Amino acid sequence: MCGIVGYVGKRDAIPVLVEGLHRLEYRGYDSAGLAVLHRGRLAVTKTSGRVQDLRDKVAATASGKASSGKGSGKGSIGIGHTRWATHGEPNEINAHPHTDTAGRVAIVHNGIIENAEQLREQLTASGVKLVSDTDTEALAHLIAAELTGDDSMSLEDAVVRVLGAVEGAYGLVVLDTKHPDQLVVARNGSPIVLGVGENEMFVASDVSALVRYTRQVIYLEDGEVATIRANDFHSTSLNGAAAGEKTPMLVDADALDYELGEFSDYMSKEIHEQPDALRRALMGRLDERFATARLGGINLDARQLRAIRQVKFLGCGSAYYAGQMGAHLVEELARIPADAEPASEFRYRSPVVDPDTLYVAVSQSGETSDTLMAVQELKRKGGQVIGAVNVVGSAIGRECGHGIFLHAGPEVSVASTKALTNMAVNFALLALLLGRVRDLSAAHGERIVEGLRNLPDQVGRILAAEAEIASVAAQFAGAERMFFIGRVRGWPVAREGAQKLKEISYVHAEAYQAGELKHGPLALISPEMPSVVLIPSDDLVAKNISTIEQIKARGGPVIAVTSADLPEGLADAVISVPKAEPELEPILFNIPLQMLAYHAAAKLGRDIDKPRNLAKSVTVE
Ligand code: AGP
Repeated sequence: MCGIVGYVGKRDAIPVLVEGLHRLEYRGYDSAGLAVLHRGRLAVTKTSGRVQDLRDKVAATASGKASSGKGSGKGSIGIGHTRWATHGEPNEINAHPHTDTAGRVAIVHNGIIENAEQLREQLTASGVKLVSDTDTEALAHLIAAELTGDDSMSLEDAVVRVLGAVEGAYGLVVLDTKHPDQLVVARNGSPIVLGVGENEMFVASDVSALVRYTRQVIYLEDGEVATIRANDFHSTSLNGAAAGEKTPMLVDADALDYELGEFSDYMSKEIHEQPDALRRALMGRLDERFATARLGGINLDARQLRAIRQVKFLGCGSAYYAGQMGAHLVEELARIPADAEPASEFRYRSPVVDPDTLYVAVSQSGETSDTLMAVQELKRKGGQVIGAVNVVGSAIGRECGHGIFLHAGPEVSVASTKALTNMAVNFALLALLLGRVRDLSAAHGERIVEGLRNLPDQVGRILAAEAEIASVAAQFAGAERMFFIGRVRGWPVAREGAQKLKEISYVHAEAYQAGELKHGPLALISPEMPSVVLIPSDDLVAKNISTIEQIKARGGPVIAVTSADLPEGLADAVISVPKAEPELEPILFNIPLQMLAYHAAAKLGRDIDKPRNLAKSVTVE
């Protein structure tokens, strides 16, 4: 998704903007640009390439190598953008920032203006020559038109007036040559966070762009506009109502969290961070005395927890699969009916909202538009919803008001690994808590507490077998398609495994319930179609062994991922998983599947952290 950075202070703005854009690269983009105010004029540089090209371009301009006459110069206020094309192809002209014809106003924008066509037609009819295909350019012309000829008009007022005529989603930052000490920022559906420094202010669409400079941040609310200067800021609501006093909060990440260290990419780094991420999720949350869990972020007492008659997890992609794992755990431990649904479906299908159901909105980023909309729909209908998010202060976290903090630490790679694992372990804690206010015995609770405590070391043991998993991945990476087969507890894990493989390696992967194979998909089994079969050591081992035999009988190669003792020679490759409490084994089975996907993608030479067509947080429809 698009990324925004802005700076006002004493530093040379360009390095700050370029560094910020570099930190946002992981979100996915196809072009980049920046504008700084230099000697009263806008200096704009854009590229249809990577942030490194932008860096080279501004460096070349600074050293006088570029001869375009445009380009960047030193300035201590500026805005930058990485674009993920929505209106118009990803080329230099459509890249942000966009300016008005006179080059007075520059704007960077995330989101989609839905009435852009109408606004563009109005501008063309009034004689404005639009140069790009974007929705954003229209805003630059409209804001400049508000300002021109009225010196008493503040930049903020001009932005507010224009936004009054705009339909759609936005996070935006505006720079005006005639208001050289300030940036105006607005948010409606696209995240914007302000960074408060010493005599300097930052703005970005994601804290990762700020933490190198400051950890004091303020999240702008939807429907808010703010003016930021080096020494102060104020915000108001776009509809004129004054916004409450904003106190900066300390973000729980620093620049080091975003460094690769010894790793070649973020996915590998984040896979290896899982034991620590799990320890953080469990810290202070296991109550050995009463064999239960403590989840201080959920504002429901034992009586209210008992009154819950159903649990429904809502999320998208991997967060949905984590929700499915959570639903299994809740049904098993708390014996409450539970299920999961993609938030992207829920929000559009006029759901029946039951006041006695606990809805859990699951999201690593806390900004996924479909999940946020599902939460808002639920709240409109009186549903009880808690968040399970990894970013404090994110839109979904704030909208829910209470819930479970995932504690995975910043996740940069598009492919979710440690956040998904922490989602699943947090749902095990939730299930334990719900179980222990109901009929789950203390003895069973103790077994789960002990099992949870063992997880970080068990994950560490799986990670230590990376070389063997990599060699299995290399053996099968040439396949054009693969099946992931799971049964009951293994089913959501199989779905997540297939998602991970297709997402980063582009190998077509499909997940099936083991019992469903014979009802159709068995027709696809052939020597060219390897199957990854999950065999936890539960009471379904024999059934899963016979699934492998059915596949082998039809010439299909099998990779068995198992914590059970399988007959010698049953599968073509075996990946072992430590035995754990059966309810918790899915959390462990997920790890080798991440590594399989990772090493298959590496073998195929894929850009692992930036898979094609995908973005880290999906803040548009
Ligand atoms: C995970 O590997 C995917 N990139 C994707 O499915 C992701 O989980 C989904 O978009 C939801 O994101 P969220 O957790 O930030 O809401």
